Amino acid sequence: MGIRKEIDESRQGEALLMEAKEGEKGKGPVAAGRKLYIESYGCQMNFSDSEIVASIMMDMGFATTGDHREADVIFINTCSIRENAEQRVRNRLKEFGANKLRKPGTLIGVLGCMAERLKAKFLEEEQLVDVVVGPDAYRDLPNLIGRLDEGGKAVNVLLSREETYADVAPVRLGGNGVSAFVSIMRGCDNMCSFCVVPFTRGRERSRDPHSIRREVEGLLESGYREVTLLGQNVDSYKWKSDCGNETMNFAGLLEYVANVSPLMRVRFSTSHPKDMTDEVLEVMSRHANICKYIHLPVQSGNSQVLERMNRTYDRDWYIGRIEAIRRIIPGCAISTDIICGFCSETEEAHQDTLSMMDYVKYDFAYMFKYSERPGTLAARKYQDDVPEEVKSRRLKEVIDKQQLHSLYRMEQHVGKVHQVLVEGPSRKSDQDLCGRNDQNAMVVFPREEGIRPGDYVSVLVERCTNATLIGRRVQPGHEVSSS
Ligand code: SAH
Ligand code: SF4
Ligand code: F3S
Repeated sequence: MGIRKEIDESRQGEALLMEAKEGEKGKGPVAAGRKLYIESYGCQMNFSDSEIVASIMMDMGFATTGDHREADVIFINTCSIRENAEQRVRNRLKEFGANKLRKPGTLIGVLGCMAERLKAKFLEEEQLVDVVVGPDAYRDLPNLIGRLDEGGKAVNVLLSREETYADVAPVRLGGNGVSAFVSIMRGCDNMCSFCVVPFTRGRERSRDPHSIRREVEGLLESGYREVTLLGQNVDSYKWKSDCGNETMNFAGLLEYVANVSPLMRVRFSTSHPKDMTDEVLEVMSRHANICKYIHLPVQSGNSQVLERMNRTYDRDWYIGRIEAIRRIIPGCAISTDIICGFCSETEEAHQDTLSMMDYVKYDFAYMFKYSERPGTLAARKYQDDVPEEVKSRRLKEVIDKQQLHSLYRMEQHVGKVHQVLVEGPSRKSDQDLCGRNDQNAMVVFPREEGIRPGDYVSVLVERCTNATLIGRRVQPGHEVSSS
């Protein structure tokens, strides 16, 4: 659920418009007065990258706008994870094409994973595109924009083994001023056979923990009260100082960040079952401000499928990790990702996924039909042989089951008092406020004078749907929460 923020679009398929808060930056000399519009698709890493891009562009003098019609430069930060993610981007590009007619001179740039996957081919396929920039090449934007200004087109899709943008202060875009993403590593060294990410994001590298901590301290000072540490596989975070006498793993980093302030909640994503250690779970249990919520993608409940997926764990290993979470952090919420209809998935294998769901009873899940991605191990080695209608039926069974489990998990919160970090007005009514509890469930309660985003309040949950807890504020200590 933690990751069930509105912007987790690799999974949900919408985009988020991004505009920096007024006065944040944008006074640089080169592009004074020009406006940038960024639209982001994909995972949180992409959204976090857009904040890096905005920072670099604002240093050049660009200001951001939430209206693409008035933009001089339109960037679309893209995702390649499934075919439909790419199709959405292509459709959107066609719409942006109209801007070029209305406002000649408008520049259109494609950033992110699709840029990396298709490289210069993008310029041939989509005539409207002026610049293609891969995820490790954003520092080159001033140069690339300069080249466009001279006429012509530009591409930089070089991947790097070192780039972490550690020293670029992200410009917070489109957020609520309470919760921010902090990138702790880039790339991925796993080779899950279905996955395009290692090709689009390159080799794994970990960011300097001191720069991570400074960023979190800065966020605290600006009023933020929650950070989500981001990486494709946070458990393999591994940093070594240049001189080699200082090292840090993920458990160490988590503790280092949690110690910034008890007022700052810490979340993280994504955990990989093969790497998630008891040491991390113990750090979580020791720190009240590390949220009791883990996103632990299972992908399939069947060991043969997991092997073909090259996930490097099997069903028993995964169950062992769930047991460790339950033992070390009782009440911890767990969410997952599931792929339905992977190559040669039998009906029995599908049943194993359903029974895994029954065993864990996930709080939340992102569920997908397998989509073959060009160049991946699975595309080269296996047949995408599960018929479309079978994939759809299995996906529906998985979704139906998850809805029951989500409701079950939400019901466990009813009648208890939860500490809620207020994010702002609820989406449905401005008479209500909303925020998340420790386990990342969304809690809605009546608005009250004097309560502001960033405040912690105690809410007695009185009822729920399968996605929201509904309650009223009570005095702290009103009732002891067991969740
Ligand atoms: N690093 C994360 C996953 C990032 S991608 C991890 O290892 O768990 C997010 C999710 O997209 C994956 O967990 C997977 O469930 C899904 N996904 C990735 N490639 C896919 C594909 N080719 N078809 C369908 N779903 C896919
Ligand atoms: Fe993809 Fe696997 Fe890396 Fe996740 S861990 S990004 S699924 S290769
Ligand atoms: Fe998509 Fe790239 Fe993220 S493929 S899920 S935007 S790493």
